Amino acid sequence: MDFNLTEEQRLVRDAARDFAAREIAPKAAEIDKSSRWPGEVIAKMAELGFLGMAIPQEYGGAGLDTLSYSLVMEEISAACASCGVIMSVNNSLFCDPIYKYGTPSQKKEFLVPAAQGKNLGCFGLTEPMSGSDAQTMATNAEKVSGGWVLNGAKNWITNGPHADFILVFAVTDRSGPKVRHTAFVVPKGTPGYTQASPDHKLGIHGAHSCTVFFENCKVPDSAILGKAGEGFKVAMATLDGGRIGIASQALGIARAAFDASVAYAKERKSFGVPIAQHQAIQFMLSDMAVELDAARLLTWRAATMKDSGTRHSMQSAEAKLFASETATRVAHKAIQIHGGYGYSQEFPVERNYRDARITEIYEGTSEIQRIVIAASLLK
Ligand code: CAA
Repeated sequence: MDFNLTEEQRLVRDAARDFAAREIAPKAAEIDKSSRWPGEVIAKMAELGFLGMAIPQEYGGAGLDTLSYSLVMEEISAACASCGVIMSVNNSLFCDPIYKYGTPSQKKEFLVPAAQGKNLGCFGLTEPMSGSDAQTMATNAEKVSGGWVLNGAKNWITNGPHADFILVFAVTDRSGPKVRHTAFVVPKGTPGYTQASPDHKLGIHGAHSCTVFFENCKVPDSAILGKAGEGFKVAMATLDGGRIGIASQALGIARAAFDASVAYAKERKSFGVPIAQHQAIQFMLSDMAVELDAARLLTWRAATMKDSGTRHSMQSAEAKLFASETATRVAHKAIQIHGGYGYSQEFPVERNYRDARITEIYEGTSEIQRIVIAASLLK
């Protein structure tokens, strides 16, 4: 593995860092406090090609690689984790599977506008009674003349309130020994597809999620993504890519908390010296730096493997597990270094701490990542 970024990857990362510093960081606290959807930021990210980063240009994307996507995700998330996950869901959980499994007409109708960022996508797998055990979903699609009728509810759907399209998974066959699922692409406005109001969450306040409902929602046969009955594999393979996005988001959150801690430790004095001169603080900063580096290497390895076309379920799970838990640990130490100020909204580490926590839960909890890793180890 080459640890040096290419010229193109460095340029893309620097452009994202510059954009994040100018256009996102100054308003990140306000987005968090007001729980405001950062629509104007997402529109500018679309102009820069950040909404379809690894999608070829002929389909409206930026035509870059997954490592570039990870680099940009880290930069955007370091400024605002809400903007990071909005971007990640559209890239990894919507554009990527449409590119991989879509028919030419699905690519034209859904992928091109989503990769250009003119439209936004979301991913409907989780349900009120099935999160980790995703196969046990209750949402059902019944075959009728000319199409399928969907009934059920999906919850915690990131981008759900604003998305123009949903990639949704439903049971289509319960007759055999194994329940069979199918993936469908459903545009907003399809009769019977509705969205509830946004959820109230601990962090990532700008990234709205909600419950969505399918009530006798009829879609044509052409709404099926991939093959009927193969939807669970579509979901799992998509999450292999999505977990790289969330690992990168966690990296960004951790890096922001780390950078703030280094700056604060050099300025704040106690016992007559900057606190950075106390070994207790130095040890915390060193541990944070090591974990951050290790998380980044795992994430870059998973991204590189995805681009090579090699199955990367285990590597993505390792990256997501380690990066998300690193984000929580690093943000925890960042608050400790900041003392009372860290617990207040005067400093961004309070937001970093709340935002970090979700990275251990969505796109598979840490426990699910361990299950995926163990399944690869023991097969
Ligand atoms: N790629 C392709 N196929 C895969 C696969 C992969 N990575 N993983 C599994 N499969 C296939 C298997 O080969 C198997 O195929 P057959 O039926 O032909 O044998 C089938 O899928 C079922 O696999 P398992 O038996 O391993 O499935 P399981 O029921 O034991 O579940 C699990 C495995 C890993 C626990 C899975 O349920 C899982 O990942 N759960 C977590 C769900 C999750 O991450 N949800 C996140 C929701 S999205 C989100 O959070 C978005 C957001 O807000 C940002």
